Amino acid sequence: GSSYPRPPSTVLVTGGAGFIGSHACVELLDHGYEVIVVDDYSNSAPQVLSRVERIAGRFVGAVYELDIRDRRALSAVFDRHSVDAVVHFAAHKAVGESTRMPVRYYDTNVGGTTALLSAMQEHHVQRLVFSSSCSVYGSAGTGLLDESAPAAPTNPYASSKWMCERILDDVCRHRPQFSVLCLRYFNPTGAHPSGLLGEDPSGEPDNLMPYVAQVAVGRRERLRVFGGDYPTADGTAVRDYLHVMDTVEAHRVALDHFGDAPGMRIFNLGTGSGSSVLDVVTAFGRACGRAIPYEIVARRPGDVPALVADASAVARAWGWRPTRDLAAMCRDAWHFQQLNPHGYAGSARRPGTKE
Ligand code: NAD
Ligand code: WQD
Repeated sequence: GSSYPRPPSTVLVTGGAGFIGSHACVELLDHGYEVIVVDDYSNSAPQVLSRVERIAGRFVGAVYELDIRDRRALSAVFDRHSVDAVVHFAAHKAVGESTRMPVRYYDTNVGGTTALLSAMQEHHVQRLVFSSSCSVYGSAGTGLLDESAPAAPTNPYASSKWMCERILDDVCRHRPQFSVLCLRYFNPTGAHPSGLLGEDPSGEPDNLMPYVAQVAVGRRERLRVFGGDYPTADGTAVRDYLHVMDTVEAHRVALDHFGDAPGMRIFNLGTGSGSSVLDVVTAFGRACGRAIPYEIVARRPGDVPALVADASAVARAWGWRPTRDLAAMCRDAWHFQQLNPHGYAGSARRPGTKE
């Protein structure tokens, strides 16, 4: 017996202007959901949401520029809209930066989540999809990981995600009506096939795919491959890259499954197959039609040799499986990079937003 007879129809998306959030908005609009966005644009830009609307051919129900730690502003959003479920993407996500600014990471990621939970509680909203990360497995995780692998976060970012998971688990234990689907993403990448939405990091990209894309478009000279002496087939580190479109489809499917079982449930989101850094370099070279220049340098501190999801639990539970391969991720990332060589900068702002 589901305690949620009605599937959610109005979904609040925190961080809806961000990389994964913007794609999620399109996916939800395409499936008939009313979408409300909150974002402080600390790592995104309002013009992204006009592109979301252009792709979907529908308007986002409302957009609020606010910091999720601002309880009063957040509460006013719940006053104004009858929210059925929340998809919570808003967070800071740069591992390196988190070691330099741990307080900022705990404040936004943990404090933002507790502020959101208070507002949800106050307004009797009991369904939450939470963005967690394979980084909670930390250095304990190498090889193929299922959800029972022990958490061993090794940096403040990963710890902040793990703390949120603990808090959400406690809330679910003590409030049986509350339902949380916690999705641990491996390495989401790629872009919307239209080329209108993609990954647009400010400054030098930390992540592999946007770095490679900037090399391909000529913004950077060559990729530095961090480590060529890992115990892997070609000596470079192996990760589980997942197309952002597959990632957001899983969130849309999640919205149909709150009532399946009580409490918090945790699922890995990955493909279950690993690609080395050089696999990505080769695949991207094929997608863009030219070789990606690279040099092999020292390992990046904190990196593990291989991190690949056992993604069978989510397939068993919901029948969800990714359908897009590394070639599609590279093709779509390259398309976005070509159409937006300097990212979103300079594109038109959403009408009605502040300059
Ligand atoms: P992103 O930075 O592109 O998106 C996050 C969005 O949240 C941005 O639009 C940002 O402006 C907003 N935001 C940040 N702090 C806020 C605040 N205090 N109030 C309101 N809005 C705020 O990141 P993303 O890649 O889209 O990641 C989305 C979520 O997925 C994050 O929680 C991240 O930790 C998690 N995640 C990402 C990856 C990845 O590789 N991209 C992997 C695992 C988990
Ligand atoms: C991938 C591979 C690098 C850049 C991070 C976070 C994790 C999660 C996903 C949020 C690694 C190599 C990279 C470069 C390189 N995010 N690389 N040259 O580290 O697997 O995971 O994103 O939750 O928490 O840690 O992703 O894209 O940074 O690196 O050789 O310039 O590419 O060493 O092997 P990572 P990444």
